Amino acid sequence: MNVFSDIESIRQFRWNEPIQAWGLVPTMGFLHEAHMTLVRRSKAENDRTGVSIFVNPTQFNNPDDLAKYPRNLERDLAMLEKEGVDLVWTPTPEIAYPPGYQTQVTVHTITQVLEGASRPGHFQGVATVVAKLFNVFQPHRAYFGQKDAQQVAVIQQMVKDLNFNIQIIPCATEREKDGLAMSSRNVNLTEAHRKQAVCLYQALTAAKAACLSGEKDADKLKEIMAQVIHRAPDARIDYLSVAHAQTLEEMTVIKGDVLLSMAVFLGNVRLIDNMTVEAGGEST
Ligand code: PAJ
Repeated sequence: MNVFSDIESIRQFRWNEPIQAWGLVPTMGFLHEAHMTLVRRSKAENDRTGVSIFVNPTQFNNPDDLAKYPRNLERDLAMLEKEGVDLVWTPTPEIAYPPGYQTQVTVHTITQVLEGASRPGHFQGVATVVAKLFNVFQPHRAYFGQKDAQQVAVIQQMVKDLNFNIQIIPCATEREKDGLAMSSRNVNLTEAHRKQAVCLYQALTAAKAACLSGEKDADKLKEIMAQVIHRAPDARIDYLSVAHAQTLEEMTVIKGDVLLSMAVFLGNVRLIDNMTVEAGGEST
């Protein structure tokens, strides 16, 4: 496995094999099984797989969240080596954003709601770093998890608007045995909060079931989610949303594909999760 922090080495290695199909899995490290699922899918669908590990400071709107973001590069590299990854980029913030850096990518409408409304500047940081990753690796395909459904939508919009010749592959949310969506931040939960964290999955499951049984009132679905969350004594709701799966606009009456999503604090740890319910009744 080839691991480089500088951009020239990544470019050189990637363009030594220009005709191979390249897949890219962007990550912020502290890898878990969900990241590995993306890596395995990229390995299955491409000749070569690149992974980036970079805790991107510009997408953190909360300095405390950035400071506490878990890191373990040695373990990450061992996990990627075991999967047979070809190329890993581990830039420092100074390599990604050298002195004098002055360019940002802004995706407008779709970033104004949900995570974008709750975390000002977050998606500008994400879009900018992903655009840079796309330019450094120039992959044919890039893999993103549906756990961050709005992130997938923002990247798809950016790729369309800026004509990146890259196929975006959304991958299903991977969960722990009790249903909690896997996340690097889960290690920051106390034992008591880890137990309560299953409330997000339970709330989404309950709202999805109601939706599938024909509930058309978005407020009712939000009430169902709120009731389940409130059973966890320490859970604090940041937002609950029932939105159009494509536009991410809030719905009042259910029509078409629905994205049920939420952000919930347990102590200082902010967790997000979502499920979609398709118009025909199918769901993820
Ligand atoms: P990170 O949180 O490390 O996630 C890297 C990728 O793994 C993202 O596409 C994310 O959606 C996916 N992922 C994380 N948990 C998942 C789960 N439980 N199931 C399925 N996929 C999951 O997302 C980022 O990093 C950053 O914003 C990044 C895109 C790398 C830009 O900095």
